[in-house]
Amino acid sequence: MKTLLHIIGWTFLVLLLLQFIQIEIPKPPKATPADEIKAPKEIMSILKRSCYDCHSNHTKMPWYGNISPISIGVHSNIKNGRAWLNFSIFNRYDDQKKQKIYKGIVESMRIRKMPPPEYLLFHKEARLNKKEVELLQDWARKFIKED
Ligand code: HEC
Repeated sequence: MKTLLHIIGWTFLVLLLLQFIQIEIPKPPKATPADEIKAPKEIMSILKRSCYDCHSNHTKMPWYGNISPISIGVHSNIKNGRAWLNFSIFNRYDDQKKQKIYKGIVESMRIRKMPPPEYLLFHKEARLNKKEVELLQDWARKFIKED
């Protein structure tokens, strides 16, 4: 019994101390509605459902998202995801960056890299079926200029 109490006590203490380790998410960049990506309704609904948590200013943070050590993974995903691609400021990107994004979308869908598998474990609603994946790829392909 005493050992059990010790284990619980130490676990609690460690979790408490872990709260001091946090990754800061940089303040989202200022954006006007005109900066946000424009796409057909069915594409927007896929992006919002599957990508916006990490690739826009409109992140829906789950209650556990700010609790360390989970927050370390969640915050770094949002930080790095937005840095790579932020749909809220999409129209401010130059042509070269947009090309990289369209190609990146086709490729990351092909190898099912996005949304990240560990995210999908907790966000079943973000899963995309084959048809949705193809819809997104076809949409992105239309903008790719072959070189
Ligand atoms: C849980 C957070 C998260 C979600 C949700 C998410 N991404 Fe990402 N994404 C990232 C991170 C983090 C990166 C940064 C690069 C990396 O880690 O590979 C990234 C990178 C990318 C890249 C860059 C190319 C690459 O392969 O690294 C593309 C394109 C991309 N995401 C598209 C999407 C699309 C499209 C969706 C929705 C279908 C999506 N992402 C959903 C976190 C996310």
